[in-house]
Amino acid sequence: MKRFDLGCGWPISLPRLMLLIGIVLNLAVTTGATGHYKWKVDYLYFSPDCVEKAIIAINGQYPGPTIVARAGDTIVVELENAMPTESVVIHWHGIRQIGTPWFDGVPFVSQCPISPGETFTYKFVVGRPGTYFYHGHLGMQRAAGFYGSLIVDLKRGKREPFTYDGELSIVVNDWWHSSVYDQETGLFSIPFRFVGEPQSLLIAGRGRYNCSLVPTSSVVGDGDCLKCNSESPQCQPYVLPVQSGKTYRLRIASVASLSSLNFILEGHNMTIVEADGYYVDPVIVQNLDLYSGETYSVLFTANQNPSRNYWAAINVRGRKPVTPTGLAILNYNSNPSSLLPSTASPVSPAWNDFDYSLSQSKLILARKGYEVPPPPRPDRQLILLTTQNNIDGRTKWAINNISYVPTSTPVLAALKYGWKNAYDPIPPPDYPALPMNIIAPPANPNAKAGSGVYTFHFGSVVDVIIQNSNTLNRNNSEIHPWHLHGHDFWVLGYGKGIFDPANDPKSYNLKNAPLKNTVAVFPYGWVAIRFKADNPGVWPFHCHVEAHFHMGMGVIFAEGLDKLPKIPKSVLGCGFSKYH
Ligand code: C2O
Ligand code: CU
Repeated sequence: MKRFDLGCGWPISLPRLMLLIGIVLNLAVTTGATGHYKWKVDYLYFSPDCVEKAIIAINGQYPGPTIVARAGDTIVVELENAMPTESVVIHWHGIRQIGTPWFDGVPFVSQCPISPGETFTYKFVVGRPGTYFYHGHLGMQRAAGFYGSLIVDLKRGKREPFTYDGELSIVVNDWWHSSVYDQETGLFSIPFRFVGEPQSLLIAGRGRYNCSLVPTSSVVGDGDCLKCNSESPQCQPYVLPVQSGKTYRLRIASVASLSSLNFILEGHNMTIVEADGYYVDPVIVQNLDLYSGETYSVLFTANQNPSRNYWAAINVRGRKPVTPTGLAILNYNSNPSSLLPSTASPVSPAWNDFDYSLSQSKLILARKGYEVPPPPRPDRQLILLTTQNNIDGRTKWAINNISYVPTSTPVLAALKYGWKNAYDPIPPPDYPALPMNIIAPPANPNAKAGSGVYTFHFGSVVDVIIQNSNTLNRNNSEIHPWHLHGHDFWVLGYGKGIFDPANDPKSYNLKNAPLKNTVAVFPYGWVAIRFKADNPGVWPFHCHVEAHFHMGMGVIFAEGLDKLPKIPKSVLGCGFSKYH
């Protein structure tokens, strides 16, 4: 417990008194209907895995400050971009932005990026209770550490359909020593240089790289060295404190850049109770797969021998792991938190046991009594074939042969005001060219760059089938976690091989399909989702792997723009929007 030191027994000073009043007032507003936050975004040297690098931090913190609100609250974030060399935006992942599509935080879709020195105010309502997060959405800023948790509690007086004694919350991710600028340059170079596998896995922003693997200045020049300090407080294992016999709700959000992760609480079962802000049918697991962009709540009881501590661990799934397990401490009672378990790091299912992952994903179903069943049939169906391609010698990802490249004008304003020159007026195709080949690298790997938009009738029901395929390399297909902005969707079903439009819909789950905002498509398979196009705005639907979206793996959806009032000036000013 932290103790407040009120000034070594001296009478409290005026500035200190002002500070205290400030804190009290601040508490008063954050527990009321409006939460006010003042954030300053800047570069910062930080050592999340003991190796120091420049990251993007908020108010000098990494991970960024946690927002805690109640359903129905308004969140106001005054964001000052103090980085001298790049713009920013923040996306509030899982928040629907009903009525405020311009504050969704996607550059050149919902808003113009916030320039160096500028201050921009986000203001939106958090409608549903649940576990969410926020992150930078420009370039690869999320991979630079620019994210934090956003937790929405129930309205006062409402109760969860489960009980617990305490609450814990973590974000998990993968971490590289190279800067995001290096990573980004590699992805756009000829020949292509991939970001590679991460050096570390972080729990709550902390991991531990083995400093003896870092060349010292006696081997290379001083300036070439990575600074690695295993004593840095920034890379000591995160501590999850528990009391023996009590039950905890652990909120987990994966903000990973690349890796699918598997989470384990050594010796403890977990009961999944929430996914992406919806209650799910409670299901007990020994370990939990987490795809980038997903959030979960699990319940666990501290029912193991209390005389020791236990590991909380994450491992890479779906890609051949070369990264050591990420570890935190499940700290029982008053054992010293520095008391590391003497047991080996927990082991996850085999990285390429995709059947395991698929069957675990299928366990996630809407909770009885809380189901919102999907509408029985769609008004429109899209089949999106995802492929790896070449464009002018560069490696890209494409959807129905079009690789997404942002425009320089927010599409929201361009569509709303009919600025025809500001976007690609030709909508991308609803279906891939047939016959589909998904088991070999594409015979003609060339794709086109585009920024077209799929426009839906307001209120219509849309089915999207994401069809996975082989990459440019033989015998390789990857997991892609697809995330939809502005909506939650029902996951209707998963399948292997090529989706069959005549037969596969017969096996859709129309009864207790879970509502989510992110879902994984597995290698050589497909996933079908359904949503209502009932949120006026312009919404990206993209792979949440940072590098993949940056390489064009996404599409843009739009609906109901005539329902929107004027777009606030604060989000305009770039591209064609500077003339309006
Ligand atoms: Cu968290 Cu567009 O994504
Ligand atoms: Cu992907």
